[in-house]
Amino acid sequence: MAQIYKNFIDGEWVESESKRTFENRNPANWDEVIGVFPKSTAKDIDKAVKAAKKAFDSWKKVPVPKRGEILGRCGDLMVEKKEKLAKLETREMGKVIKETRGDVQEGIDTAYYAFGEGRRFFGITSPSELTNKMCYTVRVPIGVAGLISPWNFPMAIPCWKTIPALLSGNAVVIKAASDTPATATKLVELLVEAGIPEGVVNIVHGAGSEIGEALLAHSDIGVISFTGSSAVGSRIAEVSGKTLKRVSLELGGKNAQIVMTDANLELALEGVLWGAFGTTGQRCTATSRLILDEKIYDRFIGMLLDRVKKLKIGNGLDESVEMGPVINKAQRDVIHNYVQIGKKEGAKLAVGGEFYEEGDCSKGWFYKPTVFKDVKPGMRIEQEEIFGPVLSVIKFSSFDEAIRIMNDTKYGLSSSIYTQDVNLAMKAARDIEAGITYINGPTIGAECHLPFGGVKNTGNGHREGGLTVYDIFSEIKTVYVDYSGKLQKAQIDTTVEK
Ligand code: UN1
Repeated sequence: MAQIYKNFIDGEWVESESKRTFENRNPANWDEVIGVFPKSTAKDIDKAVKAAKKAFDSWKKVPVPKRGEILGRCGDLMVEKKEKLAKLETREMGKVIKETRGDVQEGIDTAYYAFGEGRRFFGITSPSELTNKMCYTVRVPIGVAGLISPWNFPMAIPCWKTIPALLSGNAVVIKAASDTPATATKLVELLVEAGIPEGVVNIVHGAGSEIGEALLAHSDIGVISFTGSSAVGSRIAEVSGKTLKRVSLELGGKNAQIVMTDANLELALEGVLWGAFGTTGQRCTATSRLILDEKIYDRFIGMLLDRVKKLKIGNGLDESVEMGPVINKAQRDVIHNYVQIGKKEGAKLAVGGEFYEEGDCSKGWFYKPTVFKDVKPGMRIEQEEIFGPVLSVIKFSSFDEAIRIMNDTKYGLSSSIYTQDVNLAMKAARDIEAGITYINGPTIGAECHLPFGGVKNTGNGHREGGLTVYDIFSEIKTVYVDYSGKLQKAQIDTTVEK
């Protein structure tokens, strides 16, 4: 029997006022219903925002280290329940169990990092230009945060957003992806168990077109954090602009790995296999382009194809499986359509390019790992985000050309170069236009305590993770304290008091 899930509003599990529901199914086996969720409306969002606004008044007064302790406890609970959470995640999202364990671990890391930062929520102090006066800054919360999370990291990304938003003193309304609402609901349950007061955390399930839009338009929401496509991100910025919300956007990518002739080729091979086909290519940071030096082009592609052909596809709960399904039918169609585009553009399909429907996989959204070679810069499969297990291989003849190919897209999230030459590595780190550059590592694998985000159409300048996430979720207040006992005029009084 499928579990019935509810919204969590003002400390209670409630149905949607619409009484409508939607199902969440396992992408590895569409006969399996993971849960039935409320299909909520703008009215449900309004209730959640009102509850959050009310709860914010007292939550903002809870000392930051105390908020951190609750979040740390949530981390402890995630450690306790890690295996169960990972299994649920694999069932609802499809990625292999090793990776969902990693996804939950990223949530745990985020909680423990926030626990520590709770005692380091520093501002700056500064001398004043006037005698008997001092200045300092404090971080203050914004109010109610609307958090819209994607399906590819069902635990880590809701944690990336919710945990720092709460540590900063905001109340939150979460709208998790409709493909993975169960894991996000578990996070809410854990936060409640850890001691988050009523109304501070709310989750409302439903369609982005309905409740996502309602969040954006709500005048009592102060900040929106969104991870997803650039098209939706642009719409979010537009609608949220009308009520002057702060908006943090984490959008698309067309990440590439460069391999120089001098690279350790075995290592570069492991890197690209993991970067391109880990999470079935469904990471914002996934390697979707491989830029190869012409001197090693044929050899490296040979090594790559050998391994790609052997990747084991299947249900992610099987420990031996290396690649799970893609998230849903619509996404598999998008991927398959890009493969047709690639062929028409004249790229050479070297492996894959088909549904995978053998045995138990006939009831899931499986797609074979796909490699295109002889891809030319500017082709659509080289420029557009596909979000699936499709790798485009491009040839270069000089380091400068490799960097040009790397940079010549509208995105700029992650990037990688494999070389043993320290001078080239340093030049690449300087010249690649991306928010993240890996030297001798794949494009995936960001750690929670470092800034995460990208340049160009990948975002709008914010960085989740690290200390920078607290800039998204707090306002800076500057305080001037004049202890001279008289009116002192900045910029005008020039005499120095004795
Ligand atoms: C994403 O795909 O949006 O760096 C996040 C990584 C992960 C996070 C990816 N730690 O691949």
